[in-house]
Amino acid sequence: MVEVGLSDIAIYVPPYYLPHAELAAAYGVPKEKYNIGLGNQNMAIVPNWEDIVSMAANAGLQVLEKSGTDPGDIQSLIVSTESSVDHSKPVASFVQGLLKIGTRCRVYDIKNACYGGTAGLVDSIERMSHTVKSPRKSLLIMADIARYGFGNLGEPTQGAGAVALLLEKNPGLCSVDTSLNGVFSQDVFDFWRPTGYAVPFVAPGKLSIECYLMALEGALADFRSNAGIEQGKLMDHLDYVIYHMPFTNMAKKAHRRLIEIEYRDSDLETQEEIFNKTFSSKVVPGLMGAREVGNIYTGSLYMGLVSLLENEREKIEDKRIGLFSYGSGCMAEFLVYHTNTKLGKIIDSLHFKEQLDKRKKITFEEYTQFYSKSQEGVSYSPGEINSMKNQYTKFLFTGFMDHKRQYI
Ligand code: CAA
Repeated sequence: MVEVGLSDIAIYVPPYYLPHAELAAAYGVPKEKYNIGLGNQNMAIVPNWEDIVSMAANAGLQVLEKSGTDPGDIQSLIVSTESSVDHSKPVASFVQGLLKIGTRCRVYDIKNACYGGTAGLVDSIERMSHTVKSPRKSLLIMADIARYGFGNLGEPTQGAGAVALLLEKNPGLCSVDTSLNGVFSQDVFDFWRPTGYAVPFVAPGKLSIECYLMALEGALADFRSNAGIEQGKLMDHLDYVIYHMPFTNMAKKAHRRLIEIEYRDSDLETQEEIFNKTFSSKVVPGLMGAREVGNIYTGSLYMGLVSLLENEREKIEDKRIGLFSYGSGCMAEFLVYHTNTKLGKIIDSLHFKEQLDKRKKITFEEYTQFYSKSQEGVSYSPGEINSMKNQYTKFLFTGFMDHKRQYI
C-alpha cells in the first residue's frame, strides 16, 4: 500500500499573550491554581484585526512557503474549526482566495468540536491512499479561538491559533497507517455551543474531564485490538504520546489513566514509577504549546506535535508517536505517526519558539478591552495595518463591506 501522511507542518499563534499570573491576580485566585493545577503559564490573545480566517491563512502560507509548494498544486483544502465566522460560506473558501489556491481543488470545512482536525486528516489520508484519481497534495488547516467569557471557570484555558498540515504520498515528515486507528464515540453533553451563542456551555464539575477519559479508554482498547498490542506493551510500542490538551495537565490526567489501564495488574507503587518515567520522557516534550498558548481546540493535538518536533529535534527521527484526539460530543481516535529520517529542514523552519518569544505581553485591562470589543464596524488605516503586520502575521481582518468580511 502507498504510504501517505504529513510532508510538512506549520503553526501560527497571535502576537499577544496574557500571563496566567495576571489573570489569577485580577480574580483573586492563587496563581498556583492556574500554573500548577491546570499547568498553564500564558494565554494567547487574539487582537480584533485577526480571526480564524486570517490565522488559518497565516499558518497555511507558512507551510506552503517552508515546503516550497506551489498553491496551484493543492488539490484538496480543508479547514477544521469549531469557531467559524459564517454559517454558510466555508472558512476554507476565504483561505483559498488569500492563498491563491487554484479552482481545480476540493474546498470545504469540517466542524466536529476539537476532533474536526483529525476527521480531516483521516479522511484525506484514506482518500489519498485508496482512490486512483486522488489528490497529490492536500492542505489541512485547523484554526480556532477558544473563548469562555469573563469570570467563567474555563477562562484560564482560553487560547487561539492555527496549525497547517501538508499531506502527500511518500510523505517527508511522517506516515500514518489509519487501518490501525482506535475509535470511540458516544452521544454526550460535555461541552457544547448552541447556534447563536458566543461562548460554550461546559458540563458541571469534572464531567467533561471524565467524558474525555472514558473516550480515551474506549479508543485505546480499539487501537490495541486493531494493532494486536497486548496489555502492558503499549509503552514499549510508542516512543512518544501526545494528547488533546484543553489545558496542559489534561495530558497528565490522560497519561495517568493510560498507565492505570495498561498496568492494572501491577501494584500502585509500580504504576506510579512507570507513570513518572514515561510521562517525563514520552509526554512532557509535547506540552510546550498548551502551556504557552492555551487551548486551540482543533489544532491543540497538532500544536503538541509541533512542540515535540522542536523540543526533540535530535531524537525524533524514525520514531512512533501515539496521538489521542478528542472532540466533545463526543468522538475520539487514537492513532500512530511513524516519523521519517532527515527531518532537520522541516523542524528548523517551524520557528514556533521564536514566535512565542516575539509575542508582546499585555495587561489584564488590555485583554478585557480586546475581548469586549465587537469586530462589527472595525476599520483600520493603511498605517495601522502596516504596523500590525510582521514576519508571521501576513494576513489581517480589516472589517466588513456589504456584510462581507475583508482581509488584507
Ligand atoms: N495550587 C495548586 N493547585 C490548585 C490550587 C492551588 N492553589 N487550587 C486548585 N488547584 C488544582 C485543583 O486541585 C485541580 O487539580 P486536579 O484536577 O488535579 O485535582 C486544578 O487545580 C483545577 O482546579 P479545579 O478543579 O477546582 O478547577 P475548576 O473547577 O475551576 O475548573 C476545569 C477546571 C473544569 C478544567 C475548567 O477550567 C473548565 O471548565 N475548562 C473548560 C472545559 C475543559 O477544558 N474540559 C476538559 C475536557 S473537554 C475537552 O477536552 C474538549 C475541549 O477542548 C474543551
